[in-house]
Amino acid sequence: MAILLDKPQEVSQEHFLLKIAMKGANFAPGQFINIKTTEGTDPLLRRPFSIFDAEGDIAHIIVRVVGRGTSLISKMEKGEINVLGPLGKGFTLEKNKNLLLVGGGVGNAPLYFLARELKNRGNKLTYIYAAKTKNYIFYEDLYRGLVDEFLLFTDDGSAGTKGVPTEMARDIISGSGFERVYCCGPDPMMEKVVNMASASAAVEVSMENYFGCGVGLCMGCTVDTIHGFKRACMDGPVFNGREVIWSKE
Ligand SMILES: Cc1cc2nc3c(=O)[nH]c(=O)nc-3n(C[C@H](O)[C@H](O)[C@H](O)COP(=O)(O)OP(=O)(O)OC[C@H]3O[C@@H](n4cnc5c(N)ncnc54)[C@H](O)[C@@H]3O)c2cc1C
Ligand code: FES
Repeated sequence: MAILLDKPQEVSQEHFLLKIAMKGANFAPGQFINIKTTEGTDPLLRRPFSIFDAEGDIAHIIVRVVGRGTSLISKMEKGEINVLGPLGKGFTLEKNKNLLLVGGGVGNAPLYFLARELKNRGNKLTYIYAAKTKNYIFYEDLYRGLVDEFLLFTDDGSAGTKGVPTEMARDIISGSGFERVYCCGPDPMMEKVVNMASASAAVEVSMENYFGCGVGLCMGCTVDTIHGFKRACMDGPVFNGREVIWSKE
């Protein structure tokens, strides 16, 4: 049984940090855990959350409250918590390369753990952090302190540059110097980043679409790819962005 070490801590508007001890677990960036939000049946299904950071077998996650399940999680008391994981396939961990990370909203969460592991492997990191407003930004200082270049964008200009990075940072995203681009955020943003990235760069995206069972049984999480339908919970959530079929004409 996993243990929630403290009450969820509000780290920005609607966003909560949870630290969960999961005995013997080994986490990789891009993997997720699946939380049962109540003892009862409403909601029935577990809710998936990416690993924001890990200290040994303690997972840190950031939960944005968007509905009933996440609201219940934000009000949990410390103690036992029903969690499965770590699950799924994570990001490719490069060594000594020039890399770009692009996060939108709570999609920034898995990219922090990724950035930390990439930094340990001698990579040069440029990080683009996008958020709706200043109030939705979490742990800006941690991201800034970790990477070589940090660029901040908000939709309303309340912090950083006003606008979305796929408009305001086109030149950077399409720059030929990056050997790999990692992206997590809303699908339209990820699609644009994949299309903009230099042809010489590999692009990985983490698909945070709807999940059902979370363990490969229901096909409730399918992602259309050039290799056919894939299950995000088992074959992902990290995919080669160039193999995803984003929008159908
Ligand atoms: C692999 C993976 C990793 C994720 N990592 C994180 C994370 O680190 N932090 C985080 O806060 N969230 C993350 N999510 C999304 C999170 O799982 C959902 O927000 C959560 O399940 C919603 O539960 P709920 O009961 O509160 O909302 P519901 O009551 O089920 O839905 C409330 C509203 O949110 C929308 N919604 C629900 N699920 C999603 C979704 N997956 N994508 C977009 N909109 C959705 C619904 O359409 C509805 O409008 C991740 C999802 C996946 C698949
Ligand atoms: S969520 Fe059921 S197969 Fe992926």
